[in-house]
Amino acid sequence: MWDTKRKNGRVLVAFGLTIVFLTIHSSFLPRYLDNTIPTPRQCASLRASLEPSSDFIASRNTLGSDRFVEGTPPVLIRNAKILTGARNGTEIVFGDILLDKGLVIGVGYIPNALTRLPHLRVVDAGGKWISPGIVDAHSHLGVYSAPALNGASDGNSMKSPIQPWLRSLDGLNTHDDAYKLAIAGGVTTAQILPGSANNIGGQAFLIKLRPTAERSASAMLLEPPLTLLLNSSDTRPKYRHMKHACGENPSRSYGQTRMDSAWEFRRAYDQARQIKEAQDSFCAAAEQGLWDGQTPFPENLQREALVDVLRGRVKLSVHCYEAVDLDALMRLSNEFKFPIASIHHAGETYLVPDLLKKAWGGVPSIALFASNFRKKREAYRGSEFAPRILADNGLPVIMKSDHPVLNSRHLMYEAQQAHYYSLNPALALASVTAVPANALGVGWRVGMLASGYDADLVIWDSHPLALGATPVQVYIDGIPQLSSPAMLHKPAPFQDVPVTPSWEQEVKDTIKFEGLPPLAGRSTTGSVLFVNVSQVWTRGGGGGAVTSLLTADEPAHDWQVLVQRGAIQCFARADARRGECAARGYSADAQIVDLMGGALAPGLTTFGSDLGLSAIMLEPSTTDGRVFDPLTMVVPSILGDSVIRAVDGLQFGGRNTLYAYRGGVTTAVVAPMGHGFLQGLSVAFATGASNALVHGAILKSETALHISVHSEMLASVSTQIGALRNLLFSRSSLGAWSRVKNGEIPLVIKVHNADIMATLLHLKGEFDALSTSSLRMTFAGATEAHLLAAEIGAAGVSVILAPARPYPATWDQRRILPGPPLSRKTSVVTLLEHGVNVALGVQSDYDARNARFELAWAALDSDGVIDHKTAMALSTNNMDKALGLDHITLHGEDLVIYQGGGVFDFDSKVIGVASGRRAVVELF
Ligand SMILES: *[C@@H]1O[C@H](CO)[C@@H](O)[C@H](O)[C@H]1NC(C)=O
Ligand SMILES: *[C@@H]1O[C@H](CO)[C@@H](O)[C@H](O)[C@H]1NC(C)=O
Ligand SMILES: *[C@@H]1O[C@H](CO)[C@@H](O)[C@H](O)[C@H]1NC(C)=O
Repeated sequence: MWDTKRKNGRVLVAFGLTIVFLTIHSSFLPRYLDNTIPTPRQCASLRASLEPSSDFIASRNTLGSDRFVEGTPPVLIRNAKILTGARNGTEIVFGDILLDKGLVIGVGYIPNALTRLPHLRVVDAGGKWISPGIVDAHSHLGVYSAPALNGASDGNSMKSPIQPWLRSLDGLNTHDDAYKLAIAGGVTTAQILPGSANNIGGQAFLIKLRPTAERSASAMLLEPPLTLLLNSSDTRPKYRHMKHACGENPSRSYGQTRMDSAWEFRRAYDQARQIKEAQDSFCAAAEQGLWDGQTPFPENLQREALVDVLRGRVKLSVHCYEAVDLDALMRLSNEFKFPIASIHHAGETYLVPDLLKKAWGGVPSIALFASNFRKKREAYRGSEFAPRILADNGLPVIMKSDHPVLNSRHLMYEAQQAHYYSLNPALALASVTAVPANALGVGWRVGMLASGYDADLVIWDSHPLALGATPVQVYIDGIPQLSSPAMLHKPAPFQDVPVTPSWEQEVKDTIKFEGLPPLAGRSTTGSVLFVNVSQVWTRGGGGGAVTSLLTADEPAHDWQVLVQRGAIQCFARADARRGECAARGYSADAQIVDLMGGALAPGLTTFGSDLGLSAIMLEPSTTDGRVFDPLTMVVPSILGDSVIRAVDGLQFGGRNTLYAYRGGVTTAVVAPMGHGFLQGLSVAFATGASNALVHGAILKSETALHISVHSEMLASVSTQIGALRNLLFSRSSLGAWSRVKNGEIPLVIKVHNADIMATLLHLKGEFDALSTSSLRMTFAGATEAHLLAAEIGAAGVSVILAPARPYPATWDQRRILPGPPLSRKTSVVTLLEHGVNVALGVQSDYDARNARFELAWAALDSDGVIDHKTAMALSTNNMDKALGLDHITLHGEDLVIYQGGGVFDFDSKVIGVASGRRAVVELF
């Protein structure tokens, strides 16, 4: 987990370790192994190789997988494009793949003799892409379950910074709703890590995500280590796994400094080293026949896992971001001589590739997010170009979910983004298959498709690196996981690897400025002539609809568009011999910009994050701070009855804000921050403006009034509704509330639960019946809105879905409509079909920049119901209407400039904004 927020149990005082170190001569040594009499055989096992022997592999190929489920029929998948993972991920085999006994039997041409297996099922893949099952190297599935309930939050022990004896398996909830969601995204294997609140949080375990007949946590394990003593006849030694964490999380949890953390590690490893040395002397003596048959094998149950780290028998996953922490980690690994399998989050690894090569025992793999950065200081220099830069430096790159920080169902989207930002396609695919499998020590059985590998694979509806790629079937151990998958038709371009833009200058700047490249553009009020334009879209103005300015709605070719002071002057076909633009007499000094078939399209509006109120969410001094909630807090009397206004705390130029701007999001609406009932009045502002006083910076200073109604507040839901009832029906109402009651500004209610929404619709009905005006109501969040789509549509209530892709994070959100392949329809489609004004919001500041990909994804998931205009409206006109921005007069429009493709493509790149509102063209 990224941050270690816990409702209770946060330990703030340093917690001293009280470990009594035991020596070889101690008479009460705890033992973890069954055999109570130590033998030289035990000593020999310390040196046994953990790589599977060729004999073992041969026997496995004959007998089948240890995870084979009796009765599973063999499957022959015909006519596929198979990304096997071989040749460093570049191999594509056109042909068939045969699965039996939980294993891949053959790939490519399958001899006829093999296709006469009894009970063989034959599946025609229809030329679709197949990849290995996705391996998520960093997941908290089962230990941070969905829905999140106090009874199933088992990821972080807060008892001590050093706890190598804890095991994530002991907290693995088999009823997490997220398993089937992750499988629906193609994830077949995951490493379940303890959280990062501790320097040593405990042992991790690998699982396969499918349900098992035994229904136990242990039955899900992939390569269960012998130390679990699950099966006494299984004697093949296997790698173990463990979590370490540096930096802010353990510091925050234990009130310690980086110096304390480093010492905690060194003390723990020093103790483990002494045990290891005692064991080695013991074994050396025993092997020379000097053992008395009495002295016990030196062991310590609390330290044995760390001793195994020192013996190279544990694949370590280290949560560690900054150069300072990475440096300490390299020193630790060399001081105690142990290898590091992978470094996670790893925000600054791309800045110190040579340092990482100093790791003892080999170069670690680097496990990253694609764009989830800047939530805390140590993630501030995170870069979307890190995967590419690390790969250039020969470091293996993993993309991971940290589920539920990111929904692991969409782990492939992380690989897609890494590819968009210039990681090569083979490495992007390998980053969620072969590379994590290798880093976890199971690369010989998962992460690739070859004879003898586990039968874990995904059949995709499009190329897996194409935006919105969705599994049509997922096999785990040869067992199909989707019972009646909803299949989507994907347009032809999505069947190939996207042709992504060039980012060479951005990559250079990222390194040069150590992750903080300047983000301001170059503004001009002069003429800019855009050539080779194929689409020009506009919002339509005055409550209109998104429309194309060029012929028809289809992309045309080779238009020229002249822009002056940020506004379009004219457009003409290039072949029209200077055409209309020439008639307007544009000057010869116009700057000419080639859009390479690109587009001009309306700037998007984002809502749902704290953009503009926070630079680094977990650093209070960089945020506006939380407002006092009159329902659940004592409000200082000096405030009187004022309703707080976000505009009064607005900050411009934050990096998340500027990245949103550079992603085509030109307007942000933000409400005051707070977890209580009443947040206050939101502001609509221009993300590209440098400060509040610049012309066009503030679009509307009091946009909407915002409240939350949910079941995790100190006051009951019924109390929250009581408060709302009082505010709406009491005669004396204050400024903001009277404007809500007059229908001047919308009441935006953050609510996920359908029963609460029903109550709110009822309340609106009561209010509207008694009042001359109708309440303008918007539900934000609204995960369960699809259950009341007809009623919400009939009531004229708007919905802002946030997150755009649903996840049952809490009890209030548990009834999701998951979308393909688990359901034919999505929430967006269902709401649109019932005439609801629906928009797509976000939850995190970093994510605002990805708005256009969310729109594209919503359209792709709709199977043709949502066309380009409707998709664009989800973050333009519909959003404005939901937030009450549709009635303000805007002087001019912001048009985003896309080069190389349109709004919805991984092919395109935003290269600037023609801001009619600010009367400039800004180029990046
Ligand atoms: C795979 O990549 C590694 C590292 O870049 C290289 O050493 C190796 O030769 C490559 N193998 C193939 C088959 O291309
Ligand atoms: C125990 O392990 C052995 C050796 O791997 C295997 O043959 C046997 O099926 C396993 N038994 C169970 C119950 O898993
Ligand atoms: C316009 O851009 C497209 C896409 O890059 C390219 O194929 C085409 O040749 C360009 N046309 C002109 C006239 O430059």
